[in-house]
Amino acid sequence: MTTPDVISVGYLVAAVLFILGLKGLGRPRTAVRGNLMGATGMLVAILVTLLDQSIISYLALAVALLIGSVVGVLLAVKVKMTSMPELVALFNGFGGGASVLVATASFIEAVDLGSADNRLAIAAGVTALIGAVTFSGSIIAFFKLQESLKGSGFTGLHLVRAAVMLVSVGLVAMVALQPDTRGWLWALVGAGLLLGVLGTIAIGGADMPVVIALLNAFSGVAASATGFVLDNSLLIIAGSLVGASGLILTRIMCTAMNRSIYDVIFSAAPAAAVGRDDSDVYGDRVTATSAEEVAMILEIADRVVIVPGYGLAVAQAQHAVRDLMTSLEASGTEVVFGIHPVAGRMPGHMNVLLAEAEIDYEHLLDMNQVNPTFAQTDVTIVIGANDVVNPSARTDPGSPIAGMPILDVDESRTVIVIKRSLSPGFAGIANPLFAADNTFMLFGDGKQAVLDIVAALVSV
Ligand code: TAP
Repeated sequence: MTTPDVISVGYLVAAVLFILGLKGLGRPRTAVRGNLMGATGMLVAILVTLLDQSIISYLALAVALLIGSVVGVLLAVKVKMTSMPELVALFNGFGGGASVLVATASFIEAVDLGSADNRLAIAAGVTALIGAVTFSGSIIAFFKLQESLKGSGFTGLHLVRAAVMLVSVGLVAMVALQPDTRGWLWALVGAGLLLGVLGTIAIGGADMPVVIALLNAFSGVAASATGFVLDNSLLIIAGSLVGASGLILTRIMCTAMNRSIYDVIFSAAPAAAVGRDDSDVYGDRVTATSAEEVAMILEIADRVVIVPGYGLAVAQAQHAVRDLMTSLEASGTEVVFGIHPVAGRMPGHMNVLLAEAEIDYEHLLDMNQVNPTFAQTDVTIVIGANDVVNPSARTDPGSPIAGMPILDVDESRTVIVIKRSLSPGFAGIANPLFAADNTFMLFGDGKQAVLDIVAALVSV
């Protein structure tokens, strides 16, 4: 077998491993195996790529690999779970930026060697545009998520955006028509960077993680287009897989937040009710409780649903929650977890936290599975969740979250809500659940409150 044959077979094996890996990642039970398959595919891809005769400097590759690995390990160890969306934003941005660099360098080399044709020029132009949009858009998204950038756009932004988009398409055409004129390529990269900034600057609040998923899809499309520039089949396949999965994730998130992708990009996120007097909602109808009372209620419950939210991640209460589950199950109570698709601040946030505490996937029910069961549930314990259990999404058409599918915890016989105060959640709105007749509020830090309940259960 010649070296190109080995590379082709290696790429085929890697592509199959990527696809099987993605399939495995679709279910919690097979996710670890899927992840391992994807990583093995990447290792195969890197190893066979190293056989490529056109690699100029193995030393430069080794240095880049070392720097990348050190930065990657540091980030993985240091970044908090709650800051994961920012990290993903940076990864997307770096992916887009890398595509721009690789595709433009390769295109310029081909032009200098006189081997650039129109197909290559179009692929390089498309990569430069999408990669640059992904890079600058992701950097803006990163700063917005960190709340160090508050930009909200300006009047006429839509028009400016449309104009820059038209100019960008025109520049792709110019790159294709006059590949020798480098100025078109640089102007295209500049227009792409500007478009990325203009596209994300006005997007805020709850929509930002959806944009991150969309930029993830863009980074895949940019990588795939780079594959056409380099004539690399694996890059085309891997980029397409990232692009398609990013788009599917974007759609899932939009559905879970009742937003269309058009609304996310072109209209502002629903505003929180500014200046609204929450006493309308709460009055003197909120009933506070204690860990001892909660333990007594739980003692006689046959079925308990635990609903985790962002506050569980903040409190790092996952291990305490596992102890609560074990303690309840030991006395014969059925315990399951109700997981809302956008609970927390990133897709799968709650699943990751609960998996960290080694809570079996069998216990995790998604929204469609758990909602029909609330009416037969004795006690639902809501820990640090707010918007995803807010019944006004169902009952108040004027609410900023109207129409967002929620967990119908209010249908349970008794609801215990653990949080530190009556403060609102991400959407910034009051939650009538806290004042419902069947709700008891256990005020306090999520972890401490759960530990107190576990201690009280022992002494009941
Ligand atoms: P939120 O509605 O954000 O509410 C979290 C609650 O946790 C707060 O009300 C807060 O109340 C409480 N909390 C904070 N620290 C706590 C602690 N140490 N102990 C106990 N409670 C604590 O959370 P959610 O119900 O998970 O909803 C998620 C929201 O984020 C939704 O609006 C969703 O649209 C949005 N969002 C999600 C995603 C994804 S992909 N997951 C992406 C973008 C936006 P106190 O301050 O009173 O304690």
